[in-house]
Amino acid sequence: MSTFSAPAKIILFGEHAVVYGYPAIAVPFSSLRATATLKPNARHESGLFITADDPNIKLQLNDQNLSHPLIFMAHALLKAVDCDTPPNVTVALNSHIPIASGLGSGAAIAAVLGRALYAAINHPLSDAELNQIVFEIEKQHHGTPSGIDNTVIVHEQAVYFVRDQPIQPVEVHQPVHLLVADTGEQSPTRLAVGDVRKLYDSNPEKTTIVFQEIGRLVEHARQILKHGPVADLGPLMVENHRLLDELTVSSPSLDHLVSAAINAGALGAKLSGGGRGGNMIALVTPATAAEVEKALLTVGAVRVHHTVVDDTHS
Ligand code: MEV
Repeated sequence: MSTFSAPAKIILFGEHAVVYGYPAIAVPFSSLRATATLKPNARHESGLFITADDPNIKLQLNDQNLSHPLIFMAHALLKAVDCDTPPNVTVALNSHIPIASGLGSGAAIAAVLGRALYAAINHPLSDAELNQIVFEIEKQHHGTPSGIDNTVIVHEQAVYFVRDQPIQPVEVHQPVHLLVADTGEQSPTRLAVGDVRKLYDSNPEKTTIVFQEIGRLVEHARQILKHGPVADLGPLMVENHRLLDELTVSSPSLDHLVSAAINAGALGAKLSGGGRGGNMIALVTPATAAEVEKALLTVGAVRVHHTVVDDTHS
């Protein structure tokens, strides 16, 4: 039995604008993971089976159930390496990453399913090759993804990312303490990305100005991450959140969590990922983390994680 794993991801700055060629910064969220374990099939069963605990499912890859997202992924992953005969194996998936919540659950599941299937058919791939395949699968789900989610997740590396360009590492001068709080509202990235596209099509000049401002914030944030002081990221997060709100991708619950975090002493806060629900992040210090976490839970966050971005994650 072999187990493969991939992390969730957090976008620190630059979501949505990154789809239009502006830079963004994202980091792996390594304590929240998806795993895939290869197991022998049950006796008398032959073919490829995919199981998951939550929801409890057992699916077999065949032509009839290609509309199921996991079967679709498995089919696409095998097709990408010209494999016509699915392996006789069971892949047991397990993910702690909430779905449709801005943390890259889809890309993480595709990455671990890919790693497991390619091990089962003895077709080793580099991370760069797997990343490209997962990106193609993301396109089927999101329409026009930038590729940032799959890149951070497959490489498990903090990145300064510009669409269609080689990834660049992010240097982190001082640990960045973040709380990641979930609104509990699922929101498929595809819908938010589609609505920003409509906004852009209806008013390209105005929307481009917002993207450019976000791009400038990202450059500034990159310098602060490199040289410090980390507290200076706070106002940039607040401004990034305001610009995302202008792009219509915030929501009352996200705004509520952002305000609660700041009122409780966070240095800054913003939505993270596609928005309209899902998760937000708050910049804290070891001294303020507990107070901010309490405030987030009090105003309705369904879960709050504490994570630290430092050079070991970049
Ligand atoms: C989603 O995690 C980030 C977005 O910018 C979409 C993308 O870059 O593909 C909203």
